[in-house]
Amino acid sequence: MLDLLQQIVSKIDGKIALSFSYQAEDTAVLHLLSQCKIKSLEVFTLDTGKLFDECKKLHKETEEFFNIPIKKYLPKIDNVKDLERKLGDWGMRESLQNRHLCCHIRKVEPLSRALKGKSAWITGLRSAQSVTRSELKIVEYDEKFNLFKINPIASWSDEKLFDYIKEYNLPLNPLYLQGFKSIGCKPCTRAVKDGEDIRAGRWWWENPEHKECGLHIKEQHG
Ligand code: ADX
Ligand code: SF4
Repeated sequence: MLDLLQQIVSKIDGKIALSFSYQAEDTAVLHLLSQCKIKSLEVFTLDTGKLFDECKKLHKETEEFFNIPIKKYLPKIDNVKDLERKLGDWGMRESLQNRHLCCHIRKVEPLSRALKGKSAWITGLRSAQSVTRSELKIVEYDEKFNLFKINPIASWSDEKLFDYIKEYNLPLNPLYLQGFKSIGCKPCTRAVKDGEDIRAGRWWWENPEHKECGLHIKEQHG
């Protein structure tokens, strides 16, 4: 994987960005990237204002482990004020439209700022995560953001991912030890039981085919 990733990033002219969400996938990808020669890499997180405290702690730990800053992109304050007036604390659970509006304001709009001026976007997406990701490729062209999207661990199984984390003793979000298998915002993520799908705890009140927040789908919601 490392050789292939090095070849891919060598072909990119311009700035490369890794989106970092405090999940094991992104840590594994950051570890792979830390072994590649890259001219210009920005690691960023979308700080939605609704993240778990465990993620905030992992932010510092990861920066120290890899000796790299993780830049935070925040939603626009006026948008958040309007959103909170409209939805209150839990309105995102009341309809798909409300949920997409919240994801748009807190994630998608800041993502578009994070990706501005970048030539490639690296993610921790895996096809095993969901029915919505089964067609995922290692290199794609993202028409929405107009850049290459690189998903280095697209084919990795859950087992391969966690073996990798263990092998290199990489920092791990403590929420995994509390039964979380996918980690997003606090109001929209819960722990899952053994045997449940890994994304069963994300927007658990919705059907599996709706479980995307807009970061990784081509058409725009909200
Ligand atoms: S989501 O679309 O359902 O929220 P998911 O949590 O599976 O996405 O994460 C998939 C990839 O999207 C991560 O590996 C990461 O690259 C990116 N991502 C998701 N959420 C964030 C976030 N808050 N900040 C930065 N990147 C994120
Ligand atoms: Fe809002 Fe939930 Fe989407 Fe986070 S995951 S941006 S809290 S709707």
